[in-house]
Amino acid sequence: MTHHGLFISFEGIDGAGKSTHINSLAHAFQSAGRIVTLTREPGGTLLAEKLRAMVLGDAMDPLTESLLIFAARRDHVVRVIAPALLRGEVVLCDRFTDATFAYQGAGRGFDLKVLATLERWVQADHGLLSDPSGNHPMAPGIETVIEPHLTIWFDLPPEEAALRLAGARVPDRFESQPVDFFRRVAHGYRERQRSHAERFARIDASRSRDHVWANILKVFIEKGWLQAQEVP
Ligand code: TYD
Repeated sequence: MTHHGLFISFEGIDGAGKSTHINSLAHAFQSAGRIVTLTREPGGTLLAEKLRAMVLGDAMDPLTESLLIFAARRDHVVRVIAPALLRGEVVLCDRFTDATFAYQGAGRGFDLKVLATLERWVQADHGLLSDPSGNHPMAPGIETVIEPHLTIWFDLPPEEAALRLAGARVPDRFESQPVDFFRRVAHGYRERQRSHAERFARIDASRSRDHVWANILKVFIEKGWLQAQEVP
């Protein structure tokens, strides 16, 4: 049976609790016989991981930050995401472009129109997703810009996220921002959900871990991408 590639991203402010659920989903898809590419942004390739270290560690202005993040994304799309989708795999990506609109756009106040232009350039398909048989490995509707089929958005009040993060580890350049920054980022995610409602699934991340997991599974089962009996 040939499978279409599935591209799924996970978003939310720092502290929203994405990581364990992404790993559980990888297991669920693997139990269902799918090959999973588990990856993250910024990062996912050798070059992009170097750029990630700069973005998270070094002070820079918002344009430099945005350009480095999109440079990392281009390398990631070309080398990892598009090839995995062509092979029919499930790509689970911890953050993607919605994070740039939320963090660099809403959080840092950087020009959303510039981000939208970079998004079109960097995620342009331009044959990346055509295979020699002429089949397109993704569902219709994304021929021109490569973007996720589904975005799981972990929605959590910024005050609660700050409590969860406090003392958890040494914060990076974003995690050390004041709660006001995360209020803007959360607003940025809401705006992105509004403009891309068809691919966003909002999960209330303030609920217990089990409840959050059950709600995530429900989304995948309703889409027919996982069967209830396949879930470990
Ligand atoms: P993340 O991988 O969630 O961090 P963690 O190591 O805590 O799991 O994300 C790294 C940080 O990068 C996070 O604070 C958000 C930020 N970020 C942006 O500012 N813009 C982006 O486009 C992306 C993808 C991440």
